[in-house]
Formats: sequence, C-alpha cells, structure tokens
Amino acid sequence: MLKPSKLGYAELTVRDLEGMTHYYSEILGFTLMEEDEQGRRYFSSGLDHHNIILTPVNESNLLSMGFQLAKDVSLIDAQKELNKLGVPSELKTDAQPGISEFLELQDPDGFNVHLYTEIEMPAPRFKEKGIIPNKLGHLALASTNPIKTAEFYKDVLGFYYTDKIDERANFLTCNTDHHVLNVSNLGKRLGQSNLYHIAFELRDASHQYQAMDILARNNIKVLWGPNRHTAGHNIAAYHHDPDGNLVELFIDMDQLIPGLGYFDPRPWHEDFPMLPRYWDDNSQWGTKFEETLLDYASKKFEKVSNKN
Ligand SMILES: [Fe+2]
Repeated sequence: MLKPSKLGYAELTVRDLEGMTHYYSEILGFTLMEEDEQGRRYFSSGLDHHNIILTPVNESNLLSMGFQLAKDVSLIDAQKELNKLGVPSELKTDAQPGISEFLELQDPDGFNVHLYTEIEMPAPRFKEKGIIPNKLGHLALASTNPIKTAEFYKDVLGFYYTDKIDERANFLTCNTDHHVLNVSNLGKRLGQSNLYHIAFELRDASHQYQAMDILARNNIKVLWGPNRHTAGHNIAAYHHDPDGNLVELFIDMDQLIPGLGYFDPRPWHEDFPMLPRYWDDNSQWGTKFEETLLDYASKKFEKVSNKN
C-alpha cells in the first residue's frame, strides 16, 4: 500500500500576499526561495526547496498538501495502485519548481494531494533570525465529512489512525509523529472545507517562550496555550497569521514506535503503554480558555462575512 514518509509542504491560497510573505520570512524565519511566473512564492524551512507555497488568489484556504513517498517508489506504480482503489490521479511534470513530477489527486474534501518521491534540496540552512521552527509538523483540516476524509487517508494512503476527540478531531500519521494530519469537523460547521490550522514543530520549552516573545514584538497575540494537549501530548500555543489562519507552534509531540502500535513512554502519559485512544477533552492540564480552537479558527470566516 502507498504510504508517504513525510508531510513535505503545504500550499496556501492567500489574500494578503505581502503580509504573509513578511510573516513567513521575517517572523517564522523561513527562506524565500523563489517566485514563479504565476506569482506563487516558495519558502524553505532549511533543507527542501519548499515547505510552504503562498499562492495569491484573494481567498484564504489550503490548496494542496505535498507528501513525499519513499525514494524507491515509482509514481507510475503508485498511480496503478490508486487506479485499483478507484481513485483518479494525474501525473504532472514541471508543475512546480524543485519537483520534477508529482501525482495529483483530490481527497473527499477537494484538497489537492501531491505525491512525489524527489524534491530538490538546495539547503538554504536555518535562518539566524525569526522563530525558525524545525519543520512543518502537521495540518489540521476543516472537513465537511471528517469520518469519510479520515478513512480516505487510512485506506488510500496507508495512514495510521492514532487518537480521536469526538467528531471534532481525528488524528492520523504516516510516520512516527503522533499526527501529521488532524481531520476536524470544522468544515461541517462552516459549510465548506478549509484549513483548520497549520502547525510547526519547535525544539523545546525555551524555544517556545522565545517564539511567544517574537510574536509579541510583532503585535501578534497568543490566543490559546501554551498548554499540553491530550491527544499527542504536544505542548501547543496558537496565534493568527496575517491572513487569519490559525497557526500552532508545538513541542513534545508523542512518537509512535512503528510496528508496536504504542507511543514511546513519557512521564506525562496517562496510560502505560500509551495506545491510540479516544479523548473527551483536548487539555491535559485542565486549563480552560474563553474560546475553543475551533472558535479561533472560525474568526477568519467572520472577518470575511463582515467585509461582505
Ligand atoms: Fe494541531
């Protein structure tokens, strides 16, 4: 079965291209690699040609997710496997700088999924200035049918189902991180699919505090956290980017031991062994916030409707 090795990139459509460019290059500390003929801007966290693509189309959404397959997988064979499962896909060549070919398919919410085996690694290295995350950690989807979408990633792309919080959150991984995808029912609530949040991994608590200081200096408020989640046990803090997307900065994500089906034990775990499970709350510390993460993610849509 097809199974990606990593979440390589997210392509966002953006309303405020200049604000988002400043955010990704100066505040998060990614390197702007290039701008293509369509005006799409490509940012690297340190190794790959890109981990973030900003596409200006005057609408804020998640357009595509790039998943890198193992080096020895042939995209032609991958396409045959998808065909067998009744999932149409298109092999695209030279559609993006840095990636010579990828397979494009759509998930049940209409998000584009790009599967590729190779990406150029110009390695601009990590910047000296800005938050400078380790990597793009996970994407949380505002799905109109979270169960169907989560099943798609499990059955078609071989993702492993980890935890679940009601219909609100379905956590899936394709590697050892507790989740690289979180499929939520926010899209159902909004009546459209969109991005729920995008998450970047930091190194430790000191790095997380430093990140909050950088946000504060740039007049960006921390909305929720830092607080330890139940599912994944990551200590997460959330803010809005200039386009109104909810962004998570986290540390301490649970690590799945492949083949054993439980997470590497940690002192803060509730269960030993810590197995995938159902949770009824997302705050391990019991901290209550005035608004939920779904409320904060919904604000982007309130802003749009107020403008109209
Ligand atoms: Fe998250």
